[in-house]
Amino acid sequence: MAKIIAIANQKGGVGKTTSAINLAASLAVLEYKTLLVEKISEDFDFIIIDCSPSLGLITINALTAAHSVIIPVQCEYFALEGLGKLLNTIKIVQTRLNPELSIEGILLTMYDMRLRLSNQVVEEVKTHFQDLVFDTIIQRTTKLGEAPSFGESIIMHDASSKGAINYLNLAREILQKNNMTNIASEDKVMTDKVMDKLKVSDN
Ligand SMILES: Nc1ncnc2c1ncn2[C@@H]1O[C@H](COP(=O)(O)OP(=O)(O)OP(=O)(O)O)[C@@H](O)[C@H]1O
Ligand SMILES: [Mg+2]
Repeated sequence: MAKIIAIANQKGGVGKTTSAINLAASLAVLEYKTLLVEKISEDFDFIIIDCSPSLGLITINALTAAHSVIIPVQCEYFALEGLGKLLNTIKIVQTRLNPELSIEGILLTMYDMRLRLSNQVVEEVKTHFQDLVFDTIIQRTTKLGEAPSFGESIIMHDASSKGAINYLNLAREILQKNNMTNIASEDKVMTDKVMDKLKVSDN
C-alpha cells in the first residue's frame, strides 16, 4: 500500500506546494512510484497531498487520510507562528480520527545562510523540536521560486541546482526514516559522487 504524506501548514506561502511538487519528483527519480494530490493508493509507493493554507475541513480530511504529515516552516520572521495550533490540530486528529497519523518531520524552507534571521530560525526550531526536524534544509533559491511557473519540478528544470539536490536529499531522508532503502547502497554512493561532481550552480 502507498504511504500517504500530507504537507500541511495553515500559514500561507511557506513552501507547501513547492515541497509537494519537488518531493514527489525526487521520489520518482529515486524510482518510487509517486502520486501527487489524488488519492488512489494501490499501485503507488507514495502519495503526497498538498494542503491549502487553512485548518479547515479539507486539511482535516487530508490529515485523516494520511499516514504522516510534513510541516514546512519558512526561515522567516514569525516562523513559529501558528505552529502550536497546527500541532494541536494534529493531536486532535490523532486522538479522534486517525491514530496512525505521525509527524514525518518539520521541514525548514527558504533558508538563506547569509541571513542571521535564517540561522536564528533554524536554531530556534531545532531547539524546540529536536529530532522532529529534518536534517535536510531547503535553501532559498531563485530557481525554486521560478520552477512552478514552468509547471515542472526543479529536478526536471535543472537537476544540478541546489534546490534539486535539497529535495532529492529530503526524499532520501524520508526513505531512510521509513526503512525503504531499496536503492542499493553502492548506487547511493555513486549518486552522491555524481552529485559532488556535478557543478552546483549558484541557484
Ligand atoms: N526554497 C525556495 N526558494 C525560493 N522561493 C521559494 C522556495 N520555496 C517556495 N518558494 C516560492 O515561495 C512562494 C510560496 O511557495 P509555495 O507556493 O510553495 O507555498 P505554499 O505554502 O504552497 O503557499 P499557499 O499557502 O499559498 O498554498 C512561491 O512563489 C514559491 O515559488
Ligand atoms: Mg500551496
